[in-house]
Amino acid sequence: MTKSPLLIDLKFSDRAPVVAALKRHFAGREVIDLGAAENAGRDLSDCRYAVLWQPDADLFSRAPNLDVLFSGGAGVDKILALEGLPDAPLVRFVDPSLTRRMSEYVVLQCLYHLRQVAAYRASQKARGWQSLPQPEAGAVTVGIMGLGELGRDAAAKLKMMGFNVIGWSRTAKSIEGIETFDEAGRDAFLARTDILVGLLPLTAETTGLFNLALFEKLKRDGPLGAPVFINAGRGGSQVEADIAAALDRGLLGGASLDVFETEPLPAESPLWERENVVITPHVAADSDIGALFAHVERQIARFEAGEPLEHVVGRKRGY
Ligand SMILES: NC(=O)c1ccc[n+]([C@@H]2O[C@H](COP(=O)([O-])OP(=O)(O)OC[C@H]3O[C@@H](n4cnc5c(N)ncnc54)[C@H](OP(=O)(O)O)[C@@H]3O)[C@@H](O)[C@H]2O)c1
Repeated sequence: MTKSPLLIDLKFSDRAPVVAALKRHFAGREVIDLGAAENAGRDLSDCRYAVLWQPDADLFSRAPNLDVLFSGGAGVDKILALEGLPDAPLVRFVDPSLTRRMSEYVVLQCLYHLRQVAAYRASQKARGWQSLPQPEAGAVTVGIMGLGELGRDAAAKLKMMGFNVIGWSRTAKSIEGIETFDEAGRDAFLARTDILVGLLPLTAETTGLFNLALFEKLKRDGPLGAPVFINAGRGGSQVEADIAAALDRGLLGGASLDVFETEPLPAESPLWERENVVITPHVAADSDIGALFAHVERQIARFEAGEPLEHVVGRKRGY
């Protein structure tokens, strides 16, 4: 039986890994890579599968017979907002390589603030030799908002480093060694948190969630002097003017931000110059293209064998 063609529309900043990985994947199936100039006007009506990241606006009218859509990343907020999105299952990218990368980022940033790297860097610049009081990880509570694939792994690795870890999610969870809170327990969760980690998807409920009113509820008398905010979920969940105001008012003592309301972060943002704010350009957990294609291959094989797809996005809940 001929395998139906697979459409690829992945607008990642670097195309070379996509081209290289395509040589190793999808044997026996025609792949139509829209990044290749020769496919610009290609008839896409026979495509049943598509792997997408920032697809062209007219994609769904050009490919009206898609059975399954695959997101090129773990987050699907942009895909769900696309005009003409067909009512086909949308599978998001879940993979150990992406999860491990995110945990590296979260552990690094928690340790960065715990070990006062910004202060020591400033001291080094001035050729200063001055020790600061050093709390240990066990005295610090990291509160993770979002206990999904990424939040749970980060929690386990932070525990291993000795941090006290608590977590918050929409629905109640039971995770060994970690105290968890649901929607109703949000204020109690915040009142216990020294380092707040955002690993939430962007939905109507999480838009603008990390604002001044929330920062005011964080623990005030913790060992770091003031609470720290780390966000690697989505920028739309944070109010950057409120982060700056919270830093000014001492409601926050520092921040590590990988995602922003507008990306790239505009040059005039006041956050760039803050000494205790770490800014990275949405790189906490890149998708490994080979792992992404292997995941798509697995899911297509399941679909064609009549087995249920994994990691299907709930359209109504938005993640
Ligand atoms: N910066 C980067 O490089 C990067 C890379 C990959 C992913 N991300 C972002 O990370 C996000 C999380 O990824 P994931 O794989 O962990 O997602 P996931 O497995 O879908 O988990 C999402 C978690 O957030 C919780 N949640 C959702 N809406 C909520 C709400 N309104 N209130 C409270 N909790 C809520 C969910 O609660 P329930 O458990 O109750 O459902 C779940 O625990 C992605 O959506 C993406 O935006 C960023």
